[in-house]
Amino acid sequence: MPSLSAATVTPARSVRATLQVPGDKSISHRYALLAALADGPSHLTNYAPGADCRSTLSCLAQLGVFVREDPDHVVDIVGAGLGGLSPSRDALDAGNSGSTMRMLAGVLAGQTFTSTIVGDESLSRRPMRRVIDPLTRMGARIEAADGHAPLTIHGTALRAIAYRPDVPSAQVKSAVLLAGLHAAGTTSVTEPARTRDHTERALAAFGVAIDVDGLTVSVAGDQRPAGQALTIPGDFSSAAFWMVAAAALPGSRVEIRDVGLNPTRTGLIDVLRRFGAQVEVRQTGTAAGEPSGTVVVEGDRTGTVDVAPAEVPGLIDELPAIAALAAHGGRVSVRGAAELRVKESDRIATLVAGFRGLGIVADEHADGFSIEGSGDPTGGVADARGDHRMAMAFAIAALTARQPSRIEGADAVVISYPGFFEILSQIAA
Ligand code: S3P
Repeated sequence: MPSLSAATVTPARSVRATLQVPGDKSISHRYALLAALADGPSHLTNYAPGADCRSTLSCLAQLGVFVREDPDHVVDIVGAGLGGLSPSRDALDAGNSGSTMRMLAGVLAGQTFTSTIVGDESLSRRPMRRVIDPLTRMGARIEAADGHAPLTIHGTALRAIAYRPDVPSAQVKSAVLLAGLHAAGTTSVTEPARTRDHTERALAAFGVAIDVDGLTVSVAGDQRPAGQALTIPGDFSSAAFWMVAAAALPGSRVEIRDVGLNPTRTGLIDVLRRFGAQVEVRQTGTAAGEPSGTVVVEGDRTGTVDVAPAEVPGLIDELPAIAALAAHGGRVSVRGAAELRVKESDRIATLVAGFRGLGIVADEHADGFSIEGSGDPTGGVADARGDHRMAMAFAIAALTARQPSRIEGADAVVISYPGFFEILSQIAA
């Protein structure tokens, strides 16, 4: 996505707010995909409003699935049933969404027809061999441009495999499990480290039996998901930016309600406490196996946090926000996060360049970064390079600056958090 628009961030001393955040992006993708494969109708409430989850819906509609999205984030899907998708005349457009491309590839591998999935410039640079390899082993034939999109997937009757991916990736795990649903026999994935388990919980919610044993997840093929009425919790990764703002600016208080608290997503909470923030977490419910509740963060003091490689899968999408923790004071260092280089942008390079542009001391490592806050940054200009989470991280980092800052490419927030900058201007003072 080109850097079209810029946003100006005005300095603030603290943030104070009680708010809800949009529905979880990861869960929304999975519910939409499973609803499309299910028998019967599904009714999804609080579906993620960003462009990524809309890409999933439009791809499903192109595959012959009835999809209706109301303006209030309610989505109705009439499942085509396992094996019931129809070929699309045109290429399927995953836009900026890696989750759409990779998980849909798993579904399409098991169809009896050929499909092509394209993506935007950023998505076309991201590695796809990680899904091409296992899906090929299962029997699909996939054409790609040197391991990159566009992907042309010649679906077929699949065979089950026992797969051990090299990288911890929930998208890869999910692609293989969704293909496994269409395969003869039992498919398993053994991860090198635990990643978010929304697919496992979603499969169970749609009535599919799965087995989880340590780092191995197994699913038997030819089980038919059943349509469901489900409510999606708030997106912890969107809430993360407000939690970090509160933690980074002493005297702040942010209360976030109805936010997802799946333990494979909440590694940030421990990081905020280590940094010196007061964090209170109250689980108020569980729906479809996904816990949710209220998180209150109060900024107290700024400290030093080293994020260790083993923590990375549990806070991978929060690392840009975590960098902003130390923009005002304190120090944050992250290692073992080379995966950041193949996200929507090279998040290590984008982050370090942007932070320097804001007058913050930032160092780049092959597999991470260090941020050293020393008093208020000067402020300046940072380019999000079309990456939604970079735009939001820069906005939070710029809050503490001495002068207004310009975030270029700020419109990328529509990917996961439309309205982010409007909320920021309301809660920062
Ligand atoms: C996601 C998994 C993660 C994450 C991405 C969403 C998912 O990616 O970074 O934003 O919904 O499964 P990887 O699976 O590539 O690690």
